[in-house]
Amino acid sequence: MIVFATSDKGGTGRSVTSCNIGYRLSVQGRSVAYLDFDFGSPTAGALFEIGEVGQGVSENQGVHSYLLGDATSIRQVDVRVRTDRAELKKTRGKAGDLILFPGDEGGAELKAVDNDMVDRCVQLLLEVDHEFGVCIVDLSAGRSMAMELALRATARSQLLARTVRWLVFYRWTRQHILAANGLVHGQYGLLTSGKEVGHDKDRLLDNLRFVRTAVPDPSSIKSGTGAQAAWLHEQDVQLKRLSSTKIGADVLGETPVEPMLQWREQVVLDVDVRRQIASPAIVDAFTRLADQLIDPRAWAKI
Ligand SMILES: Nc1ncnc2c1ncn2[C@@H]1O[C@H](COP(=O)(O)OP(=O)(O)OP(=O)(O)O)[C@@H](O)[C@H]1O
Ligand SMILES: [Mg+2]
Repeated sequence: MIVFATSDKGGTGRSVTSCNIGYRLSVQGRSVAYLDFDFGSPTAGALFEIGEVGQGVSENQGVHSYLLGDATSIRQVDVRVRTDRAELKKTRGKAGDLILFPGDEGGAELKAVDNDMVDRCVQLLLEVDHEFGVCIVDLSAGRSMAMELALRATARSQLLARTVRWLVFYRWTRQHILAANGLVHGQYGLLTSGKEVGHDKDRLLDNLRFVRTAVPDPSSIKSGTGAQAAWLHEQDVQLKRLSSTKIGADVLGETPVEPMLQWREQVVLDVDVRRQIASPAIVDAFTRLADQLIDPRAWAKI
């Protein structure tokens, strides 16, 4: 299964949520590849706390170089072997592989997408899909060249029979809801751009779900005034209304606000919950998202 992680805005929680979903799937015994297609900011290594590739890899060993034709392969980084975090190393047991395909250090956004690049991308996706149970591809935010590349590659006949999912991440605010809707349904959005390169719009939509991240719970704010509580409650009601018209029922799941992640982008481990540093709710949310992602019932036509 190939999963593209997208968002219209930056800073939605796309990477942190995706890497935690990947981690949870690997803990359940699935082999997971995490491909950093965020060319302008290739920092997936930092999420897995791998200092040596925290900002990508050098010497043309990254995804960017491969797609541009400057390299014939990509360095594969075994997260559990290379991570600097001792507790993450320990979660080997019956866990499946968790392999990072990093971006290039100092990489920049793709300027354009040409046919050769699409060919290389198809080849890469075929190979990783063959080797791994789940391949998570973290795309640059917005209507990016990375998104165009992903759409063009998956429209090719070699990939048409593969399971390809799209996750669109957004935060629980008015602007994020509108932006997420625009990314999918807008004039230059995913569906229209996808159709232009040969996708069937309905099929694309069937394989797309939204993920809300860092959703605040208004009732958890203990210190404010009564007026503030009432205002927050009213905003929440309005957001729910907006979300039901703009996003609808295609929501795979959501994550709550997690203080640990507000301070630090990382994988949340069970040991963090046991030490009472992270809340059980965030691990439950990532686990649920991981389960939903691979459950065909969550992808039945809406
Ligand atoms: N559930 C959460 N609770 C609190 N903070 C969160 C949560 N999820 C993510 N964050 C934080 O939000 C910030 C943005 O997350 P992240 O970097 O994953 O977003 P992104 O969409 O990948 O951004 P970019 O477009 O810059 O790549 C990070 O500091 C992250 O730790
Ligand atoms: Mg990111």
